[in-house]
Amino acid sequence: MNAIVAVDRNWAIGREGDQLVYLKEDLKRFRTLTAGHAVIVGRKTLATFPGGRPLKGRDNLVLTRDPDLQVEGARVFHRVEDLLAAAPEDAFVVGGSQVYEALLPWCDTVYVTHIDAAFPGCDAFFPNLDARGGWTAEEEGEPLEENGLTYRYMTYRRDRHVRG
Ligand SMILES: NC(=O)c1ccc[n+]([C@@H]2O[C@H](COP(=O)([O-])OP(=O)(O)OC[C@H]3O[C@@H](n4cnc5c(N)ncnc54)[C@H](OP(=O)(O)O)[C@@H]3O)[C@@H](O)[C@H]2O)c1
Repeated sequence: MNAIVAVDRNWAIGREGDQLVYLKEDLKRFRTLTAGHAVIVGRKTLATFPGGRPLKGRDNLVLTRDPDLQVEGARVFHRVEDLLAAAPEDAFVVGGSQVYEALLPWCDTVYVTHIDAAFPGCDAFFPNLDARGGWTAEEEGEPLEENGLTYRYMTYRRDRHVRG
């Protein structure tokens, strides 16, 4: 499976239930990469999508422990095992923090947007793949700039025979 995430210098991904920043070009890339693929999303991140609705043109798999939650246009799962049994190999884990942490062991590729800033007050993080080891990073293209922020795309691939 794949994961896709935007992180700041400290691998922070969110604060107070929302994204750190919305970058137009990065969102475009997110749409291009995930189009036509299944996306795996936590209940809290789903709530941050426009109208709290699943992403269009993609099979949305939502993880929640709430047995009563129903989401129109999405499949709801209560256990990681059941979700894994239903998720295709080319699915994208799209967050948030809890769901990344739970599913990273099954991901072989992580598309990371590195934002060159340290946002204050962050409360959601992605595991630091540089520190964790077992991953090799490849830089893609030149750094980009938007709203006074510099960011760059990196693709992390899991080293063979390393899981976790
Ligand atoms: N920068 C980025 O690329 C990016 C991407 C996505 C999200 N984010 C940010 O990440 C933050 C949200 O992350 P989060 O960790 O708070 O929430 P989350 O991972 O989106 O959702 C957490 C919820 O998922 C369900 N869940 C998690 N693990 C589960 C398991 N093992 N089994 C069943 N259900 C499970 C639970 O739902 P119930 O409570 O319903 O039981 C839990 O409360 C926000 O700030 C968001 O903006 C950033």
